Amino acid sequence: MEAFLVEGGQRLEGTLRVDAAKNAVLPILAAAILTEDAVTLLDVPRISDAAHMAEILTILGCEVEQQGKRMTVRSGGLHGWEMPDRLSKQIRSSIFLLGPILSRFRKATVTYPGGCEIGLRPIDLHLRGLRSLGVKVSESGGMIHCDGSAMKAGDVYFDYPSVGATENVMMAAVLLDGVTTIHNAAREPEIVDLQNFINAMGGRVKGAGSQMVEITGVKKLHGVSYTPMPDRIVAGTLLAAAAITGGEIELTNAPTADMMAVLSKLREMGCLIHEEPATLHIKAPERLAAFSQLQTQPHPGFPTDMQVQMLALLSVAQGMGIIMENVFENRFTHAGDLNRMGAHILCSGRTAVVQGVEQLYGARVTARDLRGGAALVLAGLKAQGLTQVDHAELVDRGYDHLEDQLTALGARIRRIDV
Ligand code: EPZ
Repeated sequence: MEAFLVEGGQRLEGTLRVDAAKNAVLPILAAAILTEDAVTLLDVPRISDAAHMAEILTILGCEVEQQGKRMTVRSGGLHGWEMPDRLSKQIRSSIFLLGPILSRFRKATVTYPGGCEIGLRPIDLHLRGLRSLGVKVSESGGMIHCDGSAMKAGDVYFDYPSVGATENVMMAAVLLDGVTTIHNAAREPEIVDLQNFINAMGGRVKGAGSQMVEITGVKKLHGVSYTPMPDRIVAGTLLAAAAITGGEIELTNAPTADMMAVLSKLREMGCLIHEEPATLHIKAPERLAAFSQLQTQPHPGFPTDMQVQMLALLSVAQGMGIIMENVFENRFTHAGDLNRMGAHILCSGRTAVVQGVEQLYGARVTARDLRGGAALVLAGLKAQGLTQVDHAELVDRGYDHLEDQLTALGARIRRIDV
């Protein structure tokens, strides 16, 4: 098992380019099978979730070629509509393949993707959305069988603006004759990026980013070379790393317009942030001020994927604050380890009450999920002494060698075998 070893106390300084977004790349890789032509993504971060998605596509018969950060998918050989059990459990985002496989084969069999540390992660909204398009869904032995022989365009209403369910229905509808309208769609920027990708392949999707997405079916899609949008959560994590160390950094290729809620909270904590369309410059105060409250919401509200990083910042801020996690049911799993480092966090259900402390102290802690692991690294950057964050592989799911990125900004961090 690998771990990050972090020596705290180093102010971060320097400039870093933001990688392409995991949560854009994953649905776009799934959508790549909507055409048999070659699809090239020009910027894919070296993260394990992308590698796993590529592996699933390969098992299903696609040719996937990777050179550095370029990835080309050719799905002419796609033969399988049965998702490999082992892999679909390994990454949840394999569920994104349901829509595209139904588009190609009008049938699909997938395993129930596992839940994870942060919650049960049900897929009822995905299945209800597909049923609204006439897909017959049956479940047996943990497998989901979809019969799309009678699929047709239509209206889809979501009780909750689920990101994945919105993306799945978009991809299921692209080649369906007629107009499909998704009501109460999720509005995340990655959904806009998926729309842009599909339209670049000759699709006709509009309204992504709003609560109503309209897909007009087309007969065929063609290949494309495409650069997915930058990762607003990696960018937010790097800004948080500068904030917790009292540092000053600049990010290039930053998705500034998609980060308003995060920038607003960092400013509330006393950070000076200069923003340009693709560049962010942050100068943090010696000590952060506590924000009074933070509530996670679907976009454009505060993103749940930045909540745990903000919990780490709040734990060393001046004052007291409250965080409410409204999106996932169990996203304070790292509060215990932060308290072991000297934080004063009291959690109850979806609420954390935090009294900021002057100093954290290095300890051996454990990453339990992707963003929580990153938050523990941030705490280690601030803590006095050495912090060891076990299970670095969980952080590798969504960060391309986080230790290299932070080292480039002056942090003292390295990866060790444990
Ligand atoms: C996407 O997950 C992201 N993952 C998540 O990022 C992100 O936290 C989440 O959207 C919210 O922004 C990818 O894009 C690969 P949801 P997704 O469907 O699609 C419930 C990260 O760290 N729900 O909007 O799974 C669900 O349980 C990851 O990068 C249902 O009840 O998110 C959750 O409570 C973590 N039924 C809420 O909705 C369903 O059918 C939000 O889930 C689907 C979801």
